[in-house]
Amino acid sequence: MSRSRREVSYFSIDELERVNKIRRDFIANVSHELKTPATSLRLLAESLEEIIDEDPSQARLFASQLRSETERLSQLITDLLDLARLESGEGLEAPGPVDVRGLLMGVLSRMRRAARQKNITFKWKRFGRAADYTVQGDETQLTSMFTNLIDNAVKYTQPGGRVEVTGDSDEETVVISISDTGIGIPEKKLARIFERFYRVDKDRSKSTGGTGLGLSIVRHVAENHGGRVTVESAAGEGSTFTVYLPRS
Ligand SMILES: Nc1ncnc2c1ncn2[C@@H]1O[C@H](COP(=O)(O)OP(=O)(O)OP(=O)(O)O)[C@@H](O)[C@H]1O
Ligand SMILES: [Mg+2]
Repeated sequence: MSRSRREVSYFSIDELERVNKIRRDFIANVSHELKTPATSLRLLAESLEEIIDEDPSQARLFASQLRSETERLSQLITDLLDLARLESGEGLEAPGPVDVRGLLMGVLSRMRRAARQKNITFKWKRFGRAADYTVQGDETQLTSMFTNLIDNAVKYTQPGGRVEVTGDSDEETVVISISDTGIGIPEKKLARIFERFYRVDKDRSKSTGGTGLGLSIVRHVAENHGGRVTVESAAGEGSTFTVYLPRS
């Protein structure tokens, strides 16, 4: 007589409770983050209705605020979808050889305008004589990772500051550092910055428009590539984020 075999995995009650709590917190955070822009959209639309006939120039102002709030909301949704995909644990969709140096040049040139507006200079520095920065990876994910890091470097650096991207590689690893001369991160906050929705200064992020998802995307991309990301920073002294990517 054959017996069917069943595989059962057991979770401890503690573990289940922990996973459930993470899920509840996540849903609460997402709802909260979506509520804020949704409320501003409603208020702006109402104000627009009220004054549209009397004050066209004020109406134009509300309309443009409506557009930027909408952009912010759709950026938030894009980030959430990216993060959900990265966290699904499926790893890399279509890994292929990616020239990290070439990819970085592309990201830097796309970010140049934002940097110039703040009078921030970019610098690319190569260490050693290594010419090859190829890793097996997902180009879209890697682009999103470096865009987030360079976006932060520009966003959290005062006008007149500097952002430096340094590359190094050997047979096993490609190492990329992004340093800025910006506001830095207080030591006791450092441990939390890779968490979803975490922002060092919530009031400040109202004006810069961040949602706190960028660095959790960064961490997932590095881990999906078998690599990691580290940070060194001190308040008022700038920050350095370093990404280590194994080459095979
Ligand atoms: N280069 C940096 N210099 C100073 N603080 C930084 C830097 N990068 C990140 N931070 C801090 O870490 C927090 C989390 O960064 P993260 O990129 O995850 O979110 P965000 O930039 O606020 O929003 P998002 O990237 O989702 O638009 C930021 O709010 C900021 O306080
Ligand atoms: Mg960011």
